[in-house]
Amino acid sequence: MSFQDPKYLNYLTSEQALADFALLIRFLKERSEARDSAVIAIGGSYGGMLAAWMRMKYPHVVVGALAASAPIWQFEELVPCNLYYQIVTNDFKKSGPGCAESINKTWSALNRMFKSDEGIRWLSGTFRLCAPLKSQDDAAGFKNWLSETWVNLAMVDYPYPADFLMPLPAWPIKEVCKYLRNPNLDDKQLLQNLFQAINVYYNYTGNTQCLNTSQTAVGSLDDLGWSYQACTEMVMPFCSDGITDMFEPQTWNFEAFSDDCYKQWGIRPRPKWITSVYGGKNINAASNIIFSNGGLDPWSVWR
Ligand SMILES: *[C@@H]1O[C@H](CO)[C@@H](O)[C@H](O)[C@H]1NC(C)=O
Ligand SMILES: *[C@@H]1O[C@H](CO)[C@@H](O)[C@H](O)[C@H]1NC(C)=O
Ligand SMILES: *[C@@H]1O[C@H](CO)[C@@H](O)[C@H](O)[C@H]1NC(C)=O
Repeated sequence: MSFQDPKYLNYLTSEQALADFALLIRFLKERSEARDSAVIAIGGSYGGMLAAWMRMKYPHVVVGALAASAPIWQFEELVPCNLYYQIVTNDFKKSGPGCAESINKTWSALNRMFKSDEGIRWLSGTFRLCAPLKSQDDAAGFKNWLSETWVNLAMVDYPYPADFLMPLPAWPIKEVCKYLRNPNLDDKQLLQNLFQAINVYYNYTGNTQCLNTSQTAVGSLDDLGWSYQACTEMVMPFCSDGITDMFEPQTWNFEAFSDDCYKQWGIRPRPKWITSVYGGKNINAASNIIFSNGGLDPWSVWR
């Protein structure tokens, strides 16, 4: 029932999660041989933030924390909002000659295609879309879907095959970049290559019938809860400038973000709450926390 009424979702907060862990750890210790053992919090991504915050808020419960890819500073203005997309861009630059540059050029090629009905039909066919694009109004959504695809690839650019967001080969960005070597092609050639490139992400298994622009990860990821959290506590500002990164310029627009949240969840975000509760950069009182991340990881912005 959690997702049927916002009143149930009120409990979905990081503070509540930490309190649950405090009780759970105590419960488990009382019922096991580990009564006197020290406990270390371990987590990655959102769980990495929880691990770090657990040590900060409950130092009597956990003696330390390993916080992997934990972006505890991706809030307010603690880091510049375009760093994240710069790291994503660097991942593509490192993975093949012409790769980031090719992606950089797809946006204007797409904008030209979206200008005519013939171009829009051509895109729907070339990208084998489940639902054909209808008009120029679909351009923003289509480009968002592509941006999210690049961002997701950066998050899962593992050196071994894995299937966290999608089933993927080892070093998936290198595979993607094999199709994006030449930025100086005409629009149709460039966009045909773009289709081949994103098909590495969407069709590595070979079982994908058509591409669904409403989806950027396997359904089992179940990220609806995160969407609610991003609309309440976890307000993370992102932006791109199209110069230091390969994305279309986009400013961080809190009002628009808040309006979208209101439409989807009937609530408005509290952008200053996380730093109020957890201290932002002022965490000198905390100890015994390891923040780990790989250099390709866009969540390493706080470095
Ligand atoms: C996915 O790959 C399979 C096998 O190569 C192919 O038959 C199918 O048409 C591809 N689907 C898309 C959407 O390109
Ligand atoms: C596309 O994805 C959305 C969101 O997951 C889903 O509701 C819809 O059924 C999918 N469409 C097709 C044709 O698979
Ligand atoms: C993207 O294109 C713009 C404008 O042509 C250029 O200034 C920028 O350096 C390019 N970025 C990359 C990563 O290629």
